[in-house]
Amino acid sequence: MSPEEIRHLFGLAADRASRFRMTLPEWPHSPRQGYAACLKDFDAPLPENPGDAAAILTELADKAEKGLQMSTGNRFFGWVIGSSHPAGAAADMMTSAWGQNTGNHVAAPSASAAETVAARWLLELLKLPAQSSVGFVTGATVANFVCLAAARGEVLRRAGWDVEAQGLFGAPEITVLIGDDAHTTVFSALSFLGLGRERVLRVPADTQGAIRADAFAEVLAGVKGPVIVILQAGQINTGAFDPFAGIIPLAHDKGAWVHVDGAFGLWARANPATQGLATGVEAADSWATDGHKWLQTPYDSGFAIVKDEVAHRRAMTIAASYLPLTADGERDPSHYVPELSRRARGFAVWAMIRALGRSGIAEMVERHCRVARMMAGTLAAEPGIAVMNDVVLNQVIVRFGADLPGADGDALTQKVIARIQEDGECFAGGAKWRGQQVMRISVIGFGTDQQEGTRSTNAMLRAYRAVRGP
Ligand SMILES: Cc1ncc(COP(=O)(O)O)c(C=O)c1O
Repeated sequence: MSPEEIRHLFGLAADRASRFRMTLPEWPHSPRQGYAACLKDFDAPLPENPGDAAAILTELADKAEKGLQMSTGNRFFGWVIGSSHPAGAAADMMTSAWGQNTGNHVAAPSASAAETVAARWLLELLKLPAQSSVGFVTGATVANFVCLAAARGEVLRRAGWDVEAQGLFGAPEITVLIGDDAHTTVFSALSFLGLGRERVLRVPADTQGAIRADAFAEVLAGVKGPVIVILQAGQINTGAFDPFAGIIPLAHDKGAWVHVDGAFGLWARANPATQGLATGVEAADSWATDGHKWLQTPYDSGFAIVKDEVAHRRAMTIAASYLPLTADGERDPSHYVPELSRRARGFAVWAMIRALGRSGIAEMVERHCRVARMMAGTLAAEPGIAVMNDVVLNQVIVRFGADLPGADGDALTQKVIARIQEDGECFAGGAKWRGQQVMRISVIGFGTDQQEGTRSTNAMLRAYRAVRGP
């Protein structure tokens, strides 16, 4: 491509990207079209011949924009999806242009260095042990996998078994303790690692989904041999935290490795007003968290943090004669993640932490928690709406039709969710909590404030009243 063609192409991409972000307030908070219509738009026979890159880019943008979910918007409360802040998204556009393969520090010197520094900043923000190693992965799912691989290797090494070399056949049995309301992706990680999603001791949780300390002590008392304990900072529906200070010392007395899934909840540590929710979590052995949730980095970005760097590297290292060796003070990004070749995720993380700073992150977490409490309070004041959780963080779960005699609360709640999504003023999704249909509100978008929260609760109340009827 000529320099002119390159300038035109990247200019076009920047123009379409910035136009989308600048006009966000005008976009309805639901996609203009769903999957089936998008599939029709994209579908075509396999192209036989080269095409014009600029024309293709325009066609791609025209097609894609029709089916974009508004997770970058200020009134998006679905799942737990951060809003890909422009500072990180723009850094990510340059990351793509630079095309760095972040396997090692020679193939990608600046990308590796940005990771090293961003890792240090992360540990400081989250108040975790400074000697911990950090793997820059795709998200908390893979972070859980990486941390639990390190856990598996270390508890078996202590029992005289080298799982990285010998595999699991014939290995001493590992007992895994996990809370009853742990996130589904932790069970996936256990299945990937040969530990089995069902071969676990499930510890009963309280009404909010946090492990009961008394039940934990009881279950742990009967356990022998290598143990992994999996705890949670921020339950996906309620935002609840396990009682770390009470149970981590008990687990360590048994020689257990303690892993914490804190995909979004670990960020409570970055805000002085909420850090008490996770008191004692720093005593764990590993932590999984996301960048693409509360740090607002673009997708995909997660962090596998392990206190024992040797155990982390033992579980993940890839060695070959054609790969460089690291000298003292050098760090190869691939030593802490499952992939060799990968994107330079550290650039966007570095840019986001620089853009928000310690105080900006604390302000955002605090603001989101305040908006969540306000939304919960407003909704609960409406006859027939019940807030089903203690709003300790940024998560609210709501059930509709609570006061209507004979009403089918599950069906009514589903109808209200569908109506909200149809109206497009804001977006919320659903889930089952304790066997009942609920609507989930996750306050996680960077631009969500009291005003946007109020506009959203008004839309939710309008939808409820319309579905419920006079
Ligand atoms: C508690 C918890 N753990 C793990 C995950 C999975 O994270 P990811 O989708 O980033 O892989 C989530 C996602 O919402 C979560 O809330």
